Amino acid sequence: MIPMARNVFLAALEGRTERIPVWFMRQAGRYLPAYREIRSRKNIQEICKDPKTMADLSYAPVRDIGVDAAIIFYDITLPLQAMDCDVEFVDSVGPIVKTVRKPGEIKKYSKSEDKYALTDGIREFRKSYPGVPIIGFAGGPITLASYVIAGRTDRDLLLTRKKLYEDSAGLHRLLETLNDSILSISKAQTNAGVDAIQIFDSWSGSLSSHEFEDYTREYLKPLFDELSSFTKSIYFASNSGRVLENIATLDVDFVSIDPHTNLTKAYDRLGGGVGIQGNLDSFTAASSAKDALLQTRKILAESKKVDRFIFNLGHGVLPGTPPENLTKVVNEVHSFVR
Ligand code: CP3
Repeated sequence: MIPMARNVFLAALEGRTERIPVWFMRQAGRYLPAYREIRSRKNIQEICKDPKTMADLSYAPVRDIGVDAAIIFYDITLPLQAMDCDVEFVDSVGPIVKTVRKPGEIKKYSKSEDKYALTDGIREFRKSYPGVPIIGFAGGPITLASYVIAGRTDRDLLLTRKKLYEDSAGLHRLLETLNDSILSISKAQTNAGVDAIQIFDSWSGSLSSHEFEDYTREYLKPLFDELSSFTKSIYFASNSGRVLENIATLDVDFVSIDPHTNLTKAYDRLGGGVGIQGNLDSFTAASSAKDALLQTRKILAESKKVDRFIFNLGHGVLPGTPPENLTKVVNEVHSFVR
């Protein structure tokens, strides 16, 4: 079945279609031959300065896997460069912030100082693939703060939480600057033509419930109030099941659910009414097409209770995932009628 046209995708986000939209977090990554081919010639920073390559790479999973929406090829850490932090990518490690600033030292994001082509990449995508939906994104405030503080991925936020107890006021100043920046980046992407914005708060699920209230919900609340005035919004946190009650008070269109949490129970804990995204286990999708399909059917059955549903993984596609496993999952979702 062919992917959804842009107007159908937007209607599906409002729950006005019988078909369920499907895309995968990190769908343009290392598991995809088209990505590896381009990466053999260019590094991530080079790709993200080249609007045509960004657009074509964003489109590759729509063409090769059959997902209903593209996600702009970029990285959550790249805008930190325009905030006075030098970012570098190291193979098999990930992004490294070379100059780790003191919290008060980072500047608010400024588009004129951004050397990457985020908005031009989106405009190029819109021009080349006008009928195809595209999702924009930014990191969440504590997730971006963790890269500034730790200088690299701090998955369990141990270094970031240490800072929280050593210099709470400094962390609040940093989060405020980052939150303003996330809003600017999201507005710029919306003006360039994205159909929705996902906030990747990849590591916020490592906070305790009290920490989440003070250092995450406090910032996400005004952020999503603003976002919902100009775009569709999706909130992703790994291990979101741990903090669903905190998330329930946000004005967000969709909440992404982790694979450890039952969809219908998550919907109830969020107080109902909100859209749900999720939640096939990435490891299952990488390991067994047969089991991925069995789990996909269970998730689709659970989603019947939810008004607005987007099928996705619980977290990103793992590097070793056979592309055909994902194609089978997409076909299964597409053949399901609510
Ligand atoms: O769907 C896509 O793949 C689109 C592009 C995209 C990238 N990063 C490019 C990238 C997206 C959506 C991201 C988001 C991102 N980046 C997140 C949020 C999603 C998540 O997994 O929680 C995070 C935490 C980052 C930071 C980051 N970038 C890490 C931790 C790493 C290393 C681990 C990994 O996933 O490879 C990166 C590197 C990165 N960003 C790659 C790509 C394609 C891999 C680079 C390579 O080829 O080696």
